[in-house]
Amino acid sequence: MDAVAELASSICKALSARGVVVDEHLVLAGAWLHDVGRSRSQGVDHASLGGRLLREQGVAEEVCRVVERHTGGGIDAMEAAALGLPVADYTPQTIEEKVVCVADKLVNGTKRQKASDEVAYLRSQGLERAAAKVASLCQEIEDLVARPLSQLE
Ligand SMILES: [Fe+2]
Repeated sequence: MDAVAELASSICKALSARGVVVDEHLVLAGAWLHDVGRSRSQGVDHASLGGRLLREQGVAEEVCRVVERHTGGGIDAMEAAALGLPVADYTPQTIEEKVVCVADKLVNGTKRQKASDEVAYLRSQGLERAAAKVASLCQEIEDLVARPLSQLE
């Protein structure tokens, strides 16, 4: 299985075990499709492009939103405008959107990495706001599963 989808599935199971209601099918669909926009762009716009491509194909709206809200730790409308993206709030809001976003940050290529590795990388690129958002989102999910995300199989 795709590494992001695999980790996203593990997070779903850990959340369910803690009594958090999460739609694993939606998470898996979003995880498998999250980078579909890379067929058009390797830039940060691949997320919004992916969402648009899927919407044009009639894919369920909640899957499209998981896809377009997976970059950074979420991009708000002001940041979207500054980046030249279609202006919208791409902040992950539902638990499913957050799980895919976090799983994506914890996979580098095909390998798992710690949240702190991704945060350090973003800081090294001068992306302080993104680093803070990723740290916060990872912490939120870690608090919900009540154990280190790095321990999830
Ligand atoms: Fe991506």
